Amino acid sequence: MTVFTGNFLSTSQLGRGIVEICLDRKNEAVNKLDPLVIAELARMLTPLAQDGNLRGVLVTSAKDAFLAGADIQALWTLLGGSRKAQIAFCADADRVLTQLEDLPVPVVCAINGYALGGGLETALCADYRVLAADGQVGFPEVGFGILPGAGGTVRAPRLTNAATALHWIVGARTFKADAALKAGMVDAVAEPTRLRATALDWLQQAIDDRLDWKTRRELRKGVFASDEAAFATARSDAQKSVHHYPARLAVVDLLQRCAPLSRDAALPLEAEIFSTLAQTPTAKAMVGIFLANQQLKKRNKELASRARPAKRTAILGAGIMGGGIAYTTAVKGMQVLLKDIAQSALDLGVSEARKLLAKQVEGGRLTPSEAEAIQSAITPTLEFQGFDTVDIVVEAVVENLKVKQEVLARVESLARPDTVLVSNTSSLPIAEIAAELRRPENVAGMHFFNPVHVMQLVEVVRSAKTSDATIATTVAYALAMGRTPLVVKDCPGFLVNRVLGAYFTAFALLIRDGANFMQIERVMESWGWPMGPAYLFDVAGLDTIDKALRILAAAYPGVMATDFRTVIQILAEEKRYGQKSGAGFFRYEADPKGKPRRSGDPSIAGLIARAQPTGARAFADDDILDRMMLAMTLEAGRCLDEQIAESAIDIDASMRLGTGFPAHHGGPLWYADSLGLAEVLNRCARYRSLGGLYAPGHGLRQLADRNRTFYGANLP
Ligand SMILES: NC(=O)c1ccc[n+]([C@@H]2O[C@H](COP(=O)([O-])OP(=O)(O)OC[C@H]3O[C@@H](n4cnc5c(N)ncnc54)[C@H](O)[C@@H]3O)[C@@H](O)[C@H]2O)c1
Repeated sequence: MTVFTGNFLSTSQLGRGIVEICLDRKNEAVNKLDPLVIAELARMLTPLAQDGNLRGVLVTSAKDAFLAGADIQALWTLLGGSRKAQIAFCADADRVLTQLEDLPVPVVCAINGYALGGGLETALCADYRVLAADGQVGFPEVGFGILPGAGGTVRAPRLTNAATALHWIVGARTFKADAALKAGMVDAVAEPTRLRATALDWLQQAIDDRLDWKTRRELRKGVFASDEAAFATARSDAQKSVHHYPARLAVVDLLQRCAPLSRDAALPLEAEIFSTLAQTPTAKAMVGIFLANQQLKKRNKELASRARPAKRTAILGAGIMGGGIAYTTAVKGMQVLLKDIAQSALDLGVSEARKLLAKQVEGGRLTPSEAEAIQSAITPTLEFQGFDTVDIVVEAVVENLKVKQEVLARVESLARPDTVLVSNTSSLPIAEIAAELRRPENVAGMHFFNPVHVMQLVEVVRSAKTSDATIATTVAYALAMGRTPLVVKDCPGFLVNRVLGAYFTAFALLIRDGANFMQIERVMESWGWPMGPAYLFDVAGLDTIDKALRILAAAYPGVMATDFRTVIQILAEEKRYGQKSGAGFFRYEADPKGKPRRSGDPSIAGLIARAQPTGARAFADDDILDRMMLAMTLEAGRCLDEQIAESAIDIDASMRLGTGFPAHHGGPLWYADSLGLAEVLNRCARYRSLGGLYAPGHGLRQLADRNRTFYGANLP
């Protein structure tokens, strides 16, 4: 019997005609699928298939996980290639995986850890799959704008059924062992220590014909029953997002088209649709930002590795933000001193945490005793007792420079010399907050977004005096809280609010020039924003937005100052603050659950008219889109010029995580790249008369001159 040793897998004989194929990619921590692995698999399978002594095959992994799926770097290269190359890639994988599936003997896969995408597609070629009880399987491809192109759409419905395959593939989710067993995607679940023995037992049963693997295999080569109801539901869901995420509908169409076909007839169709999707901007954006995020994660991890971990923390101010920060900290196993000046505020902060924990218990994510332990990690206090023991103090008191300076001076006098002090200010310069302190190097900003337990992003703000050690500790603390920290330079609005400020100013200008705000809402929502700008103002509060825009206008007069009364100022003066006051651009009434229900408000027309000195006029949708998105993109470019953030990757990640910027457009700078920077400059030239908001920064002009892109240097 042949024995094979390669760079990605090897075979060994287990006796009684059984061969083990062990996946073990050399010099790397995980097994990934790429053209080299496929080629090696082919070299190994050809002699194996001809081996007359072979009676059964066991497929295992020597790594912590079975097979992680496609190598995203290789996928990125593939997306940059031609349709022909993409179809050839799928055809190669299909040919080799079919060879595995068609071996003349039974094949059993022992899945440890996880098998995702190409990993699960490989496992589906086996006659039986045994999954470790702590393992996970799934098809994440649709989330990347593509489809499981190594036979996933063909094998999954033939093994299970149409409804299950649609649910798994279109949903792009990962499933735990019990769900995978229930769905029929795996045949057995075993404790990790028993995985191999259980898989071998299944194999022996098949070899002994105690399991009818031959009939089952024939069924997998044939047609599968169409399920009209499942297709109709999946189609109507997928149609809602088809404009931005075409992969969902493409999978529904493909499965329906392939139901009456044999496996071998369906595989080339899958390859064809894979290549169609691989050519879409959505696929390029989703895979590109995945790679970019990996770089960001790596950088954050490196920073945090140099930090002293924050075990004991203190939060000043038990309000909306302080309460949320305390909860999010305690949930992750850290101790929290929660200090306020008012007992009522403390009671509220503690009861908010209790409510959030109760929801976790209700949802089965925490046991009552775990929730209790978390709650007891938060110590509410009106005193400064214990502040000499904490590693980091988060200040989240009222937005008032003097109050912040005073309270931090008091804390500094009590804390250890190495305690890091961070402020959750939304608008005050960190340098000014730290100006009176003895150790300004210990001070940074930590700008959380509301609600803290939901929003992923935290801007970690570095002032000119902040030390590297302080940044490292703050980044490590944010990571320990399960958030994504982004280090930005101290400047008014920091990064996210500054870039949003340009977008909001563009809105004010459009209204001044006569645009209909409902058209702006529609255009921005259909571009992919979760909500239009007017509704966003109402949710955030027009008083808050007005105040923030005044600060930004003073800081960036050439870009954001306006010489007219904006619609935002008019609404704020009228005390139409949005949801909190019952009316803004829209009207709000509490629904039976107490949540604000939105409706149109005829009286807004008169207020808008006051903001339109030359009256209303018609705008093309494209004009609206360009004016809104170019303003945002150009400000993002200026931030890069000023090195407010380290790279285009950071800026785009901040906007996605902090504002809901549509992921399929990548981020403002990815979007600029996808338009082409020369085209961005052309479009900006049309709006030159509108002032500095549409004046491109020098970095953008330079890149365009050299025919380069923002991401050029950042991606492989
Ligand atoms: N609300 C938001 O969406 C948001 C978002 C990001 C940042 N921020 C910033 O977070 C900070 C807090 O905002 P908030 O919305 O939680 O305000 P809040 O009014 O809900 O809470 C402030 C709390 O600070 C307490 N406080 C006042 N002086 C204090 C002192 N000397 N010592 C201890 N506690 C004191 C008050 O009693 C109150 O409980 C502000 O700087 C704000 O700009 C707010």
